[in-house]
Formats: sequence, C-alpha cells, structure tokens
Amino acid sequence: MNGRNADMSLPGVPWRASVLTIFPEMFPGPLGMALSGKALDDERWSLDAINLRDFTRDRHKSVDDTPFGGGAGMVMRPDVIGAAVDFAHPAGDSRPLVFLTPRGRPLDQPMVETFASAPGIVALCGRYEGVDQRAIEAKGFFEVSVGDFVLSGGELAAMILLDAVVRLLPGVVGRRESVVEESFSSGLLEYPQYTRPQLWDGRKVPEVLLSGNHARIRAWRMEMALQSTRERRPDLLKNAS
Ligand code: ADE
Repeated sequence: MNGRNADMSLPGVPWRASVLTIFPEMFPGPLGMALSGKALDDERWSLDAINLRDFTRDRHKSVDDTPFGGGAGMVMRPDVIGAAVDFAHPAGDSRPLVFLTPRGRPLDQPMVETFASAPGIVALCGRYEGVDQRAIEAKGFFEVSVGDFVLSGGELAAMILLDAVVRLLPGVVGRRESVVEESFSSGLLEYPQYTRPQLWDGRKVPEVLLSGNHARIRAWRMEMALQSTRERRPDLLKNAS
C-alpha cells in the first residue's frame, strides 16, 4: 500500500470499481448523485456491483455459515468469496483487493490517494460477524476500516472510500486548489470559512477576511488551521513531519 501505483490511471481509461456484496441494489445509491454521480455519467469512473449470491452452489444460495469454535452470528464462506473474486479480479487485473472491516487499517487521505492512483479497486463488503479469514489471506485482501465503530455491513464503508477516491480523479473537482487546500491534504484540519451576510444574528465575519490583505488572510488561516488541529486532533500534529 505504499507509494503510487505504476499503473497510474491512464487518460481516457475510467477508474474502475467492482464491489462484491449481497446487496448490489444499494449501489450506486448516493454515489449516483452530485459530484460522484456526474463523474460516473462522464465515465471518469465505472462501478459494477457484483452479487455474492451468484457464486453460491447450494439451492438455498447461502453465502454464510456458523463460526467454527462457536459464538454468535454467521461468517461468510471462503468458497463463495473465492469464486466471486476469481470472477471480478481475473489474472492480470492489477487493481488492489480491499476488504471493508472494522478490523482493518484506518482509512486516511494518503490511503485514499494511493487508491486513486491505482487503476481502480475491488471492494469486498462483509455482513454478519465477518468473513472467513482464509479467503482474505488467500486472495491478498488489504483490510480497511472507516472508523472505530461498527456498521452493519461494509457497503456504507465502501461508499465512503469510493466517494473519497472519486473526487480526487482527474477532472472531477473543478478547481484543483479546493482539493489541495482542504483538511488532511496539508496534515491539518481546514480553517473555518465564512460567506454573506457580513453580519448574521449579531455575529460578524472575522475582520481580517474583509481586509483584502492576502498575506494577512493566509497567515490568519494558517493560525486557525493550527489552532483547530491542536484543540480537536492533536494526534495529527504528532504525526506531522
Ligand atoms: N464494516 C462494519 N463496520 C465497518 C467499519 N467501521 N469500517 C469498514 N467496514 C466496516
């Protein structure tokens, strides 16, 4: 997962997402709207949602079974996952395989940038208590979490990851600066923003922003970014180079 992918997306070749899920009808969902939806229409990226049930072999179409060793819930079967991966990710496909799980590495902006530089991803969405670890290991899945909380499945997590990636693809966000200046790309939280009216509900816009002095504005914004980061996310400052 380190560094940029050598297959860095080629101009004119859409970034390609394949999502393995038991709820393909959840997609594109919110990704079909706004910025990501427009980018999908413009073929800057493509999305196919693949139904894991299509890779079952029994008449009940079971994707899961009880955990060895006992315990609550069900576990997704490795044979079903394996067959779906072989279909979605044939030999020669260099896209990374990503399994969305609260056990994964925490998603952050550098990771999002790495995925955006790849030709696409194949995302596996878990449900139930988890996925048989042999399938994760055998297929070489990179495990990613979107935060320290438990969702009822990986689908929303995959959407979060895809949304974050798609806005970085060439031509998706209009002004490049709006991606460069925002929270995390500098390692700091973003400074606060203000717009009209200048006086609202007895509250004024900070004077400096009306000064027209761009050097002062830049310095103030930097100070505010540092202050918010210190108060809200001191962990980011510790990690800053
Ligand atoms: N599936 C369930 N919870 C999740 C999380 N926090 N991140 C990624 N996938 C998940």
